[in-house]
Amino acid sequence: MMKKKYKWGILAPGKMSAKFTRGLQLLENVELYAVGSRDIQRARQFAEEFGFQKSYGSYEELTEDKEVDIIYIASPHSHHFEHTMLCLKNKKAVICEKAFAMNSHEVEEMISEATRQKVFLMEALWPPFQPMYIKAKKILNDGETGKIIHLNARFGFQAPFNPTDRKFNLALGGGSLLDIGIYAVIDALYFIGVPDEICAKADFTSTGSEISISIIFGYKDGRMATLYSSFRTAAGIGCDLLCENGNLFFSRERDMSQQLIVAFNGKEPEKYSLLPEGMGYQFEAMEVMKCLDEGKIQSEIVPHSFSIDLMKTLDRIRRASGIVLPGRN
Ligand SMILES: NC(=O)c1ccc[n+]([C@@H]2O[C@H](COP(=O)([O-])OP(=O)(O)OC[C@H]3O[C@@H](n4cnc5c(N)ncnc54)[C@H](OP(=O)(O)O)[C@@H]3O)[C@@H](O)[C@H]2O)c1
Repeated sequence: MMKKKYKWGILAPGKMSAKFTRGLQLLENVELYAVGSRDIQRARQFAEEFGFQKSYGSYEELTEDKEVDIIYIASPHSHHFEHTMLCLKNKKAVICEKAFAMNSHEVEEMISEATRQKVFLMEALWPPFQPMYIKAKKILNDGETGKIIHLNARFGFQAPFNPTDRKFNLALGGGSLLDIGIYAVIDALYFIGVPDEICAKADFTSTGSEISISIIFGYKDGRMATLYSSFRTAAGIGCDLLCENGNLFFSRERDMSQQLIVAFNGKEPEKYSLLPEGMGYQFEAMEVMKCLDEGKIQSEIVPHSFSIDLMKTLDRIRRASGIVLPGRN
């Protein structure tokens, strides 16, 4: 049977939208339909480069186009709440980049609106859709590794300080936690769960944005997670799962190639690696369209409850480390 084709709209054609669109280009049931930018020239340029049919010089016009089925949002996190609400009010299915919003109140409101309007909404989380991540979860579920005792996850790269860049500008949600530390938090939540206790210490730039953060999660059964993110060190991207009968080491590079090493106690380590086509972003788009085919308003892979747990945990980390997002705490 022919798959239904969906008309996609891109809201905010920046760097991430370009990467995501390269994933969309791999899918048969995608129609690259429209681009909305604050600037019509940027919308036209993006549409031309990637082969979209329409360009709009405002996000409102994009969301009001009756033909658009799904909108991918990749504005700075500070604007995700406003842009998601705009799309939902116009009954557009939404996949919105991480961090989903600035705080958990905003995430709850977005989810309430999607539920009220009966419209699909999903946070664009890369890891849960990746083959190596799924493989790691399966190995853990099979039980041979035993329980995870400790998780150590990190995400760090050196970014030149620029107070207007969204990474350092507080008004745009600047700080390593919401931008990249979120991945270490996702690892802990995905593989162990929501922590019972959180300790955290952060370092700040002259704009007041956080530049490095170290976090400890404690669980009632004695398990722990240590997490780190930074724009100051080339820490790389990885997660070590230290288990009763062996260890799993998951890592990835900036090109999104991913590696998994499975090292059972006393055995030769097994190594797997993969560079998915489309940097792996197409898997999230496939999930959105599969859910729409099935009439669902949320994904079972990134359910609304996961996005709420994630943002509530990020709120707790901010409180524990003194990170303040003015007017959005
Ligand atoms: N999943 C991933 O792997 C991944 C990787 C990188 C980034 N991200 C996420 O994607 C989002 C965008 O990141 P990016 O690196 O693509 O940023 P970017 O290159 O700066 O693009 C952001 C776009 O947002 C629009 N925008 C709307 N209001 C804005 C404002 N007040 N200031 C600046 N730009 C504004 C701009 O487009 P117009 O002005 O043309 O409308 C701009 O091009 C972030 O939330 C980030 O966390 C995810």
